[in-house]
Amino acid sequence: MKLFKFRFAIATLLPLVPAALAAIKSSEDSSAINISNDRLSFSVAKSSGSVSKLSLDGQNLLGTGRGPYLDCHCVDSGFWTPGNGATYKLFKGTDGAGQEYAGAMMSHDYQNTGKVLEQYWFLRNGETGMHVFARASYNNSRVPSGGDLGEMRQLFRPTSTLWTHLSSSDEMYGPIPDTSGAPTVQDASWYVGGKKDHPYVKQVSDYFTKYMFSEEWRNQIAHGMYGDGSKSNDGSAFGAWLVMNTKDTYFGGPTHSDLTVDGIVYNYLVSNHHGNGVPEMTNGFDRTFGPQYYYFNKGAKGTTLQQLRSDAAKTVTTNWTPFYDSIAQHVPNLLPSSRRGIFQGTVSLPKGATRAVAVLALSGADFQDNNKDSRAYQYWSEIESTGSVTIRSVKAGTYRLTIYADGIFGEYTQDGVDIKAGQTHAATVTWASETAGTELWRIGTPDKSCGEFRHGNAKSTSKTLGMREYREYWAVHDFPNDFPNGIKYKIGTSDLTKDFNYVHWSVFGGKANYIRKDPYYTNVNNWTIAFDVTPQQIAGKTNATLTIQLAGVKTSAGNNDHADKAWNDLPYTVVVNGKQLPTWTIPSQHSSSCAVRSAATCYTTGHKFEFNAGFLREGGNEMILSLPAKATAPEDAVLPESVYLQYDALRLEVA
Ligand SMILES: *[C@@H]1O[C@H](CO)[C@@H](O)[C@H](O)[C@H]1NC(C)=O
Ligand SMILES: *[C@@H]1O[C@H](CO)[C@@H](O)[C@H](O)[C@H]1NC(C)=O
Ligand SMILES: *[C@@H]1O[C@H](CO)[C@@H](O)[C@H](O)[C@H]1NC(C)=O
Ligand SMILES: *[C@@H]1O[C@H](CO)[C@@H](O)[C@H](O)[C@H]1NC(C)=O
Repeated sequence: MKLFKFRFAIATLLPLVPAALAAIKSSEDSSAINISNDRLSFSVAKSSGSVSKLSLDGQNLLGTGRGPYLDCHCVDSGFWTPGNGATYKLFKGTDGAGQEYAGAMMSHDYQNTGKVLEQYWFLRNGETGMHVFARASYNNSRVPSGGDLGEMRQLFRPTSTLWTHLSSSDEMYGPIPDTSGAPTVQDASWYVGGKKDHPYVKQVSDYFTKYMFSEEWRNQIAHGMYGDGSKSNDGSAFGAWLVMNTKDTYFGGPTHSDLTVDGIVYNYLVSNHHGNGVPEMTNGFDRTFGPQYYYFNKGAKGTTLQQLRSDAAKTVTTNWTPFYDSIAQHVPNLLPSSRRGIFQGTVSLPKGATRAVAVLALSGADFQDNNKDSRAYQYWSEIESTGSVTIRSVKAGTYRLTIYADGIFGEYTQDGVDIKAGQTHAATVTWASETAGTELWRIGTPDKSCGEFRHGNAKSTSKTLGMREYREYWAVHDFPNDFPNGIKYKIGTSDLTKDFNYVHWSVFGGKANYIRKDPYYTNVNNWTIAFDVTPQQIAGKTNATLTIQLAGVKTSAGNNDHADKAWNDLPYTVVVNGKQLPTWTIPSQHSSSCAVRSAATCYTTGHKFEFNAGFLREGGNEMILSLPAKATAPEDAVLPESVYLQYDALRLEVA
């Protein structure tokens, strides 16, 4: 799928939304900017910076709620919602495809510190959605650092009972839970199972955490809410979706994951959730995020969530190029197509590679760290089975090309890939997979995820909708109960879906564990891997290499890059047949709050333990993988205090 280009196809006529022909109407006074076409109408309130009224075919979509609107965690006091005291502008025009449009802009300088947030909403004729952009800038030479842009997001936040279901992806959906009066089990997580007859409890889980509905950006297209018609004016079903039609102004590359919907439909532009990096607002910082598309649709009574979802997803292929080129004059930093080029690659992949992807991101850096440069843009595209890959609409500039694939350890990188405006950059790449000799064994599939292990991607059987187990509130996967003797994994006979847990804990239970309230230590932090070696396998071998790739690791730094606490940097040790290898100290910057935030993949990292092959012996061998025992650090929020890690894959090679 290539979602990151403005397609040059004829705009598809959507089955549920006939194209409208009536003109755009717009008006402005001291309290509001109103914009409408013949189906969708909205009002931006100048007192709050929010869309305060929104209707589709006369149906109020917000109730007394609001949004889309913008907020950030970027000022000394924490969160800031700009708007009250902001300046506003109304834009009108006709785009390159001859469609009329109108747009509203809000710009607010935080206490005249030079920290400016801007929000843009555009409505185009014939469409029932808003094209949104958000800009953050900082201009203050007296205070060179404005601090981190810790979080920035757009929110569609209705109060209306119109909405009955949440959906973050094709496979993840369910009725909206009722958390009123429910006990908090963890930060932003509740036990809702007390209401046994509630549809959410019957279909999804006894617990609800907003992180259950988080998704990885790689293939994300649309997420949002559905109203089944039980509460609409005329029985029609409704949908409210955030469509990611471009992803180049987000950070963190295709592995970035974040919240999508929890009763609010989010467009998370920046956050540190799941260990994501955030940019620092230094003097001169100026970045515009978007476009993304808040899309609203409607179907006759009985139209399903899946039908409205798939209609929303189809809009991603709409050709908005003439429109975005036309509005670039109103949106600072929005690059028209004339300033973009094409990457065309032919990739020879290693044998066994599946689901290969090519990424263009900040040159000289891991794409997970592209937040370090506030001007960094990012692109990716799936590589076809022929090895061909095309990435369109790439901002002219110099990039690192990264290629990775399921089934292959390591990745291919090449810096200095130069994309020129209006040109096609052709590249031929041969990716030879990394090797340190002959492979003796591997555990798991390198795919940046712990999904193949116990409680990973397997679907829960406790409720009818069967969500993937890693999304569940983690405490239900009770480690002492599942592994009373700890992990003893025998290569060749053990089953990784049963005998290898998705999380390697130091401690299980205690704070934020609603089920096991006392910490449990026995046989938790040390895992044993047993394997047999034949004389032929080690004959003449001198060097052994144990590669460990992690899908995530939580040091005491959690989602931050640093913590002034024990286990900020986390020592991880391996003992081979009684001989301890040099410790791997996992740095705090690689930490993420992952499994406890319902994720099987977060900030990924890894290490190679190189050791004397003489440590291996003919016959039975044993390797102990250890986190320090009882390694906890205090958490201010209701969160588990144990450090832990999540394996992606491991392998042992000899040369
Ligand atoms: C905007 O729309 C509201 C109703 O939604 C109306 O009360 C208000 O007068 C309108 N303002 C302008 C400037 O048209
Ligand atoms: C930054 O602030 C200075 C001083 O107030 C001003 O002259 C300059 O135009 C500002 N730059 C931007 C990009 O707003
Ligand atoms: C874990 O393994 C390490 C290394 O073999 C050992 O020193 C330690 O005593 C073990 N800890 C526990 C709690 O079993
Ligand atoms: C073993 O490792 C040493 C030190 O890194 C290296 O010099 C040597 O070439 C390696 N030998 C083999 C067979 O890989």
